[in-house]
Amino acid sequence: MTIDKTCRGADDASVWDEGAAARYAKAKHGPDGARFLDPHLYSLMSRERLAGSDFLDLGAGAGPWSQHALEQGARTVTAVDLNEAMLEQARTRLRVSGELPSNVNIVRGDVADLVFADNEFDRLASVNVGCNLPDGTFQAHFREAKRVARRGGRLVVTAPDSLLVSFTTVDDAEDIQTEIDGRWSRETAHDSGAVKRVIDSLRTVLRATFVLDEAGRPVLVTEENVHFVREGTPIIRRIPGLAVDNNFHTAKAYIEAAERAGWKVHAAHRDSFGSDDERREYNGGVEDSQKLGSEYVGNPSFLIMDLEKQD
Ligand SMILES: C[S@@+](CC[C@H](N)C(=O)[O-])C[C@H]1O[C@@H](n2cnc3c(N)ncnc32)[C@H](O)[C@@H]1O
Repeated sequence: MTIDKTCRGADDASVWDEGAAARYAKAKHGPDGARFLDPHLYSLMSRERLAGSDFLDLGAGAGPWSQHALEQGARTVTAVDLNEAMLEQARTRLRVSGELPSNVNIVRGDVADLVFADNEFDRLASVNVGCNLPDGTFQAHFREAKRVARRGGRLVVTAPDSLLVSFTTVDDAEDIQTEIDGRWSRETAHDSGAVKRVIDSLRTVLRATFVLDEAGRPVLVTEENVHFVREGTPIIRRIPGLAVDNNFHTAKAYIEAAERAGWKVHAAHRDSFGSDDERREYNGGVEDSQKLGSEYVGNPSFLIMDLEKQD
């Protein structure tokens, strides 16, 4: 197998078209995000940290963290994203009586080449954005965030953290490649739309990683083909509710990129259930649609970093 190495950027409307932007906004971070991501974000973006701050939401998407920052008393909130469909979702979310509040600024721009002056922001967030960035701009994202942050400023960075593990909602998940191949054979045109459709159609899968073979067919990343996936390789991720173009970066690459850009890493969390008993107890307390499969025991699904600008 050789794999297709082309990557489409976030400004390509087909990456986050209106439908995908709306579905992403609706899914939030999915049932696993609700357990392993959002609680960390709420604690790292508490009222204590955000009140009175100038907050920059990098790759804001539909703006959930901009809205959160406003609710926690941020003085100003700036949301930046390259994708117009996402920005429209953010505008809809942040408008009050049809108008954007005067302390909210929504900007179309690149997180690797920010249009802001040095030292403008106290609190910054980059929630699941680095995974969209190819090698060339991944490091620049951390450097640019540091440039626009004030001394003592804090940046929260999160990323999906899975490659070989496919996370599911149930204990008896479908065989992913068999499902994909069956649906692929029924697609008439083997284009990027078909790739998204067949990955979208997986019923029990919350997160899985795919590469495209030379025929453009999505292939699940496994021990056998993982050697094709290196730092920065274009991949397609199944995330809750949809399939998205991403670039692969290891947790180590995130930490090193942050340190290289001069951020002090206060914490890097990679959370999972400690035991199956813990998972079952959790599943007992949530609706069926929120239940998590056994892969969530011992396998982290997100990386969450708390960074500080020191000089
Ligand atoms: C997975 S979404 C996350 C959105 C939001 N942070 C959240 O937590 O819901 C990633 C977002 O990053 C944006 N993005 C990707 N590359 C970008 C770039 N180079 N500059 C600005 N935004 C970018 C995408 O358009 C998308 O809205």
